[in-house]
Amino acid sequence: MQIAIMFPFQLLNLFFVASKDKEEDSKYDLSRYKRGDLLEVPRTLFTHFGIYLGDNRVAHLIPDILPAISKNKSAIAQMVTNNRLILGVITKVASIRVDTVTDFAYGSEILVNHTDKLCSQPPLDGDEVARRAEKLLGSITYSLLWYNCEHYVMYCRYGMAISYQTYQFCTTVRKIVCSRMSAYLTALCGAGIMLYLDSLTPLTILPTLLIAFTIWMAS
Ligand SMILES: *[C@@H]1O[C@H](CO)[C@@H](O)[C@H](O)[C@H]1NC(C)=O
Ligand SMILES: *[C@@H]1O[C@H](CO)[C@@H](O)[C@H](O)[C@H]1NC(C)=O
Repeated sequence: MQIAIMFPFQLLNLFFVASKDKEEDSKYDLSRYKRGDLLEVPRTLFTHFGIYLGDNRVAHLIPDILPAISKNKSAIAQMVTNNRLILGVITKVASIRVDTVTDFAYGSEILVNHTDKLCSQPPLDGDEVARRAEKLLGSITYSLLWYNCEHYVMYCRYGMAISYQTYQFCTTVRKIVCSRMSAYLTALCGAGIMLYLDSLTPLTILPTLLIAFTIWMAS
């Protein structure tokens, strides 16, 4: 019984939790970051993203159970611990919140503006990026694959809500499957991406298509 409960926790730990190195508060040189910069923290399999707002403040989307189960604002404002994060992943609750650079990075290295090289679209003006990030602060529901922290920064920085990881997932899967069916579904997936680029309204279309696609892939 104990093992059955421990195992998914440890697995999730492996996926999401970077090593914490609390002593090195000074390891982040704040003068390197400008308002609207995209900060990226590589974790084991996923990358965590945030938008720098200035004055040692980073807006980021992070899974967190606490806002769903507590009204204690001062407790919620404290750094998201591993258990809060993992329970947030399991229950799919997250919030867009502001933390210090140190709390955001959780001991890892920070890359700045790394995604700019991968994205065909130039970033919006830094101040506009930060304003978008600030406007979205608060609780949201979080689905690990379909609406992750990357959607959030993509929307803020480039004005679109498509995750590069999700897009890569799509093209990688397309490479694996060589049938009419997959070509058809991939085209639909592409159409979903186009809709995403255009507006935020059809937020449900791409997830729905991708879930159908994934179920079909797995069966
Ligand atoms: C990040 O990108 C912005 C443009 O949006 C640029 O002004 C800034 O200098 C870049 N920061 C770094 C550290 O490269
Ligand atoms: C809220 O959380 C803080 C910090 O965890 C704690 O000190 C305080 O007692 C809590 N307040 C209530 C009303 O539970």
